[in-house]
Amino acid sequence: MAEKDLKKLIEKALDMRNSSYAPYSHYRVGAALEAASGQIFTGCNVENSSYGAANCAERTAFFKAVSEGVHDFRRIVITGGADDGELQYASPCGICRQVMREFCDPATFEIILAKSTEDYKTYTLEQLLPESFGPENLL
Ligand code: THU
Repeated sequence: MAEKDLKKLIEKALDMRNSSYAPYSHYRVGAALEAASGQIFTGCNVENSSYGAANCAERTAFFKAVSEGVHDFRRIVITGGADDGELQYASPCGICRQVMREFCDPATFEIILAKSTEDYKTYTLEQLLPESFGPENLL
């Protein structure tokens, strides 16, 4: 995949931080999920005054895609950090990793933690969620 496309995906994830609704944690997360077709689904974290009702950026992106009938994915870029601080390599929470596991091949799906278009780290889902439980277990 062209480097230019990855930079575009990172820019979309960074841009999504502007939509983050995080009045409680002040930690803004943006995600950009690329489908196998090349279509991009974005997401941000959406918090709630009843804290447990918050939704992470990654799951927002996945649920947008799945609700549009898309189930095949190539990679996701995640960008996160306090709204008055520097960006971190924002690693996905356990629930988001498990949601990815439902739809993605652990060996090939890429999770890209980006601070900028130049500064990012790439993992496979298998690296971040080893020995996982998935749909095949129930077949
Ligand atoms: N958050 C995400 O959006 N993705 C993650 O994988 C980790 C955490 C959000 C949830 C909450 O709104 C804020 O970051 C602080 O936990």
